[in-house]
Amino acid sequence: MASGLAEFVVIANRLPVDRIIGPDGETMWRKSPGGLVTALEPVIRRNGGAWIGWHGAANEKLAPFSYEGMNLIPVPLSDEEVEDYYEGFSNATLWPLYHDVVAPPEFHREWWDAYVRVNRRFAERAAKVAKKDGTVWVQDYQLQLVPSMLRELRPDLKIGFFLHIPFPPTELFQQLPWRRQILEGLLGADLVGFQMPGAAQNFVRLVRQRVGHKTHRDTVYLPDGRSVLAKAYPISIDAAGFEELARTPSVLARAAEIRESLGNPKTLLLGIDRLDYTKGLRQRLRAFGELITEGALHVDDAVFVQVATPSRERVNQYKILRDDINRLVGRINGDVGRIGQQPVTYLHASYPREEMAALYRAADVMVVTPLRDGMNLVAKEYVACRFDDRGALVLSEFAGAASELKSAYTVNPHDINGMKQMLLAAINASPRENARRMKAMRRQVMENDIELWAGNFLRELNAIRDPHAKNPRPV
Ligand code: G6P
Repeated sequence: MASGLAEFVVIANRLPVDRIIGPDGETMWRKSPGGLVTALEPVIRRNGGAWIGWHGAANEKLAPFSYEGMNLIPVPLSDEEVEDYYEGFSNATLWPLYHDVVAPPEFHREWWDAYVRVNRRFAERAAKVAKKDGTVWVQDYQLQLVPSMLRELRPDLKIGFFLHIPFPPTELFQQLPWRRQILEGLLGADLVGFQMPGAAQNFVRLVRQRVGHKTHRDTVYLPDGRSVLAKAYPISIDAAGFEELARTPSVLARAAEIRESLGNPKTLLLGIDRLDYTKGLRQRLRAFGELITEGALHVDDAVFVQVATPSRERVNQYKILRDDINRLVGRINGDVGRIGQQPVTYLHASYPREEMAALYRAADVMVVTPLRDGMNLVAKEYVACRFDDRGALVLSEFAGAASELKSAYTVNPHDINGMKQMLLAAINASPRENARRMKAMRRQVMENDIELWAGNFLRELNAIRDPHAKNPRPV
């Protein structure tokens, strides 16, 4: 894409496409699953916009290309940068630190140096691509320095930032040796969006305490006269798209086939997660295993299907988790399984949206038990697919989604006994009770979809008045 042509630019660690090998061995791109691209694609197309991101391979420079009306601009990462910036600082420092240190974060100076270097690369790309007075929207924890780096290069731009994961309590954030740089990085944006109001408050408090800027409620006042707004925008999914998919005959047939192949159990429980230590997989499987061992559930009646999508496989804590879960599943099935009857079906693989929708349709109880989660979109996807108001959602109170899906069966995943009770309550509830709960959750999810989320954020970003401009921008 030629320089300075994009009115609207998205910057994310990943491009919204995955590379696949076609039937004749040729390389093709396929749109990544996930709501963000669904929401932003029309905005990008309308504005001749661009998406800047890493294409997922190390040591490879790719030229910009266009995909379904979007200009995609790949950012290269060397082998070392994948290790230090992506696997290291992003996913072994920030990820655990921001998720309540459920695994110990590691602090290494060379990882930080790579984080700074790669963030600068993204900012420089955006500075070249964005049109004068254009809008740039930076996504997630991998790129928290980009707003200030970009502001320095291009003060004319409107810059938004959205954090998809939790923002930690101040006591935990303080552990970070580079805490001040991260806060100052984010303050380059005009609008900083979080999943939860509490996260926005944590950020504003830290800015006041650590950087010393004046703040009032959700606004930070910078010495140069600029102000930064910090607010919550709970993200959602393409709810209508999921429901439509769930209603297709092929998905419904596949759902029936899945149940059949599991022996048509009375209750099918389902978990779908990236294989991540924040997701509470151990606790959930232990709770289910104990229910079977103690006889509260019978191996003929209940089956747990756990899909764990491979993720960040070279990072140490993920390797440990993978072995732990393999062992745990083996133990449960070995202890309480019978020939032809395994209580846990464990799938370490990723599946297309159609198969996910079929699984959601097949499941009586969806079990979402993260120890900490910014939002959790799987919970919302399940609800969107339950157009017949059947099924039950067991949901951790530590997922952002719990503050919206109030009619779920809420659990504390650290409390195994409490979780066992709640699983039984969900399994044994009357269809009427579950329909009442599902209806309320469906109203929430269907009315607050990802398009509304993106629209709200961008409207607010574009409404922010530039104090240096003679004429404020039109809203
Ligand atoms: C979370 C993060 C995203 C990230 C995704 C997949 O949802 O918020 O930024 O892209 O996980 O992780 P990966 O490391 O494969 O990009």
